[in-house]
Amino acid sequence: MTRVYVQTFGCQMNVADSNGLAHAAWSMGCSFVTDPAQADIMLLNTCAIREKAETRVYGRLGQLKTVKDGNPGAKLLVCGCLAEKDRAVMLRKAPWVDALLGPRDYGRFKQVLSEWGVASDEPPPDAVFSLPSAEDDPGESAHAEFAHLRALVNITRGCEKFCTYCIVPYTRGPLESIDPEVIEAQIQHELRCGAREIMLLGQNVNSYHDEATGLDFAGLLVRLGAIGGLDRLTFLTSHPKDFNRDVVDALATLPNAAPRMHLPMQAGSDRVLAAMARLYTIEEYLEKVAYFRERLPGWALTTDIIVGYPTETEADFLETLAVVERGTFESAFIFAYSPRAGTPAATMSPQVPKEEKIRRLQAVNAAQNDATRRFHESFIGERVRVLAQGPSKKDPTRMAGKTGHNITVVYPLDDRTAHAPFADIVAEQAFNWGLAGRVA
Ligand code: 5AD
Ligand code: SF4
Repeated sequence: MTRVYVQTFGCQMNVADSNGLAHAAWSMGCSFVTDPAQADIMLLNTCAIREKAETRVYGRLGQLKTVKDGNPGAKLLVCGCLAEKDRAVMLRKAPWVDALLGPRDYGRFKQVLSEWGVASDEPPPDAVFSLPSAEDDPGESAHAEFAHLRALVNITRGCEKFCTYCIVPYTRGPLESIDPEVIEAQIQHELRCGAREIMLLGQNVNSYHDEATGLDFAGLLVRLGAIGGLDRLTFLTSHPKDFNRDVVDALATLPNAAPRMHLPMQAGSDRVLAAMARLYTIEEYLEKVAYFRERLPGWALTTDIIVGYPTETEADFLETLAVVERGTFESAFIFAYSPRAGTPAATMSPQVPKEEKIRRLQAVNAAQNDATRRFHESFIGERVRVLAQGPSKKDPTRMAGKTGHNITVVYPLDDRTAHAPFADIVAEQAFNWGLAGRVA
């Protein structure tokens, strides 16, 4: 039986793709291993969003060369955005890689496996499909017992917004919306496998549009929200240009929508937003946020921010900082701009010096940490419902899980909680990273 090792870098989209690839391998009779030295095929699903992501992938490829040297029959397959972006250079930089498949090439995956001698067309007997580790750090992967509680379901693929800093439209190609019946069938399948939370995925879910029925994202939410037995429905990512009141209104009618929204702002300066080709002003962005706050009080708003975009001045940066300091977001992912070859911003000048980008990053991070901690503190003494992730990685004598707001909660591991998908917890302590509490 062919043994496959899978390691995933990057976003949830890659995690979902890895699941799909692993399922295809399983359906051809492969099994999975967590140690690459035991594998016949090593699959790395890679990310190219920032330079750091690339550096990590090349570092890992170096380690896997040593593994391959010890097991010369093994094959190394590189998938994902870096496989697409570095198609021309990877085989020179890492000639021990056997094949590359970009995100639009996954239709060829089974063919590659059969060329490598994966002969069977039957899943392994008596085996239920379960991927041991789709996550970045194989040693610290999600606990198998709890991994199926959350399922990722693609609703769109690709992106054609071409924000000037972003490599994704080049690696993942133009937008495609998935047939609502296919989406529904996958959700039903995940629910039968025990999922309690469904996360709808797309680079820009708000541009969902089904040609055949005219269904848009708001309509899709209403349709999917009616599926019985679904505890939590959530989605990632929205583009503020396409995010509209209909989506907020649809969310307000859903009993099972998780109370959180991710709406990447990227910058607080109109000049920078225009340079990024984001297609909205900060005033328009904040208007949408105001409607969201009015209709969905108590929800958590999260965002992505880039500091040090080329030409960003101190005054531009201070506008971004001011939005964060006002406590606009419950949480934020803040990035230093990283030039991506082939995107318009990479050749824009002047580029912001590295030290300056780091200074700006730290300042926005500090402001956001204060806001995030205040948000967490607001739960002290409250009862929160937590979807379990399994024993805490930092302290395996306790359980960890997530609230509907997506706050990490650590709680006692005992007879009541050790195997329970949900736990009701009273929050007792607040930290930057989340909450700790006792069983209610
Ligand atoms: N540099 C830094 N951050 C980037 N992102 C996308 N491209 C870049 C880049 N070149 C960030 C954006 C996006 C998130 C997923 O990654 O904030 O929303
Ligand atoms: Fe990249 Fe912009 Fe598309 Fe998001 S919307 S994937 S930032 S191009």
